[in-house]
Amino acid sequence: MSSTPPDEPARQAADVLRRGGLVALPTETVYGLAGDARNAEAVAKIFAAKGRPVDHPLIVHLGDKAKLTEWARDIPDAAWRLAEAFWPGPLTLVLRKAPGVLDAVTGGMDTVALRVPGHPLALRVLELFGGGVAAPSANRYGSVSPTTAADVREELGDRVDLILDGGPCDVGIESTIVDLSGEDICLLRPGLITAEDLQRVAAEPVTSRPKAGVRSPGLKDSHYAPRARVLLASMDDADGEIERWRASGHRVGLLSARRPAALAPSVPWLDLGEDVFEQARVLYHHLREADHLGLEVLVAVPPVETGPGRALCDRLRRAAGLGSGGA
Ligand code: TXA
Ligand code: MG
Repeated sequence: MSSTPPDEPARQAADVLRRGGLVALPTETVYGLAGDARNAEAVAKIFAAKGRPVDHPLIVHLGDKAKLTEWARDIPDAAWRLAEAFWPGPLTLVLRKAPGVLDAVTGGMDTVALRVPGHPLALRVLELFGGGVAAPSANRYGSVSPTTAADVREELGDRVDLILDGGPCDVGIESTIVDLSGEDICLLRPGLITAEDLQRVAAEPVTSRPKAGVRSPGLKDSHYAPRARVLLASMDDADGEIERWRASGHRVGLLSARRPAALAPSVPWLDLGEDVFEQARVLYHHLREADHLGLEVLVAVPPVETGPGRALCDRLRRAAGLGSGGA
């Protein structure tokens, strides 16, 4: 991550936001498609640019946790503890919304999702803009989240007024989402900050069963998906799976932490890496690469499903159209 960002792009971005325009904003997780969260027209433009159903709520990004009280009410102590420990960073808190938060932002629910992103350029834009910025991931609905400015261009082209280039995203997958609006603290979307991390800091149990009526990211089974068909396999089964598709004339590639010795030289291998944080950083890049290579089938070997690895398995399952597995 760079140190002091040059200020002109951030100023320009804040101006665009003030005028009700859309800015592609780098965050530490993925690039966001940002608009003024208090401006109904700007919010409507976000949905239109993404092609996203309008009942799908957005995350509001804030420059500082002190602004929480402008957006949420009845904020439990556990939420403040989490904000203190993890912000700026890849964690989104769902809280009861303050009066006046646009229905278009919350999908008509009585809760709002909030986060302070951990990217210097995003923080500078938020500081200059002053208000809250609604920003879903800057991809067309259902497709892979962008982790570079070039990815955003590929996804949204001129549907966005300004694309800020903050370099490749450090985290690489979306924030952990946790709901603190009900009796139980509930994990809605796994991320690199795990349920155990949350539980330790919140000093309360964290469940993974959303309360009734929550439109959490699990609703749509196929999400974060490339055009190539993604098939999950164990390392042992990957060879057989690849050969089966190759034999039927398909263009197939492999995404895995190791390259099997027997892999045919003509089969592209996308190196997931061994370290889970590195895997998160490269995952979406590789899913996009699969499409650039014209693959019809991508056989993917998920990492071990523990700790932060659970978030990677979740994204891979969704890329394979298998839903969230309950998270
Ligand atoms: O890392 C991230 O969270 C990125 C960056 C740009 O901040 N943003 C992101 O936004 O992933 P998006 O819109 O692609 O995913 C946000 C998810 C949605 O799927 C939505 O279901 C959930 O957050 N969400 C938003 N508001 C909610 C609420 N009030 N209750 C439950 N879920 C909510
Ligand atoms: Mg998204």
